[in-house]
Amino acid sequence: MNQPAHPLAPHRLRLGVNIDHVATIRNARGGEHPDPVRAAQIVAAVGGDGITAHLREDRRHIRDEDLSRIQAATNLPLNLEMAATDEMLAIALRHKPHAACIVPERREERTTEGGLDAAGQHNRLAPIVGRLLDAGIRVSLFIAPEARQIEAAMRLGAPVVELHTGEYAHAEGEAVAVELRRLADMAALAARNGIEPHAGHGLTYDNVQPIAAIPQIAELNIGHYLIGEAIFTGLDPAVRRMRELMDEARG
Ligand code: PXP
Repeated sequence: MNQPAHPLAPHRLRLGVNIDHVATIRNARGGEHPDPVRAAQIVAAVGGDGITAHLREDRRHIRDEDLSRIQAATNLPLNLEMAATDEMLAIALRHKPHAACIVPERREERTTEGGLDAAGQHNRLAPIVGRLLDAGIRVSLFIAPEARQIEAAMRLGAPVVELHTGEYAHAEGEAVAVELRRLADMAALAARNGIEPHAGHGLTYDNVQPIAAIPQIAELNIGHYLIGEAIFTGLDPAVRRMRELMDEARG
């Protein structure tokens, strides 16, 4: 996405909007409406910094042809979330998105449930990360906020990690502060080691600000909640509101 002058000291926290669930609604009826491309255009018009889309193995929301349509319709950088498979690698190399975020994927899961085991899967991930980087695609690894996963990302040469905020988003009571501390510590560890930390999953108006206040985090990727809010308020006000909350938290 639009890179700040110093990638590890971003002036403005970037917002990538995940538009998968516009496609989920479209696919419920099998037609063309609502079109995720229109959502991408609205995100661009209201100052979103990027479009995130997950082409899942079962194509349950975003489809192959959506990728080039999104790329053609906006100037925003596309962050392609993808499983580490040969099929997805070939698609990424064909479309050349700005960034590719490698996620774990299980067909039966409702959404990406955990982080990628970058530490345990080094040998499987290394050639995929290498091919993406060679093609000029910015590689991000969607990982749990754990030191061993960040160390693994370093060994893989990934320039970005996206810290999974799902545990934080689902935490209650005292666990919230524990999860937040973990995310802040791991964002700092990544940045100290030259990796740009991003964050995402389960973020809402109510829980985004403590994450946005973590100074090393350069980008948030937010989808389900924003698309849900858009049903009630429209996508334009929903993205603007999230943007305001992020800016306010960043000070
Ligand atoms: N980042 C990644 C890597 C994801 O897989 C997802 C979910 O698709 C998100 C961010 C967005 O999460 P949510 O839809 O809960 O906002």
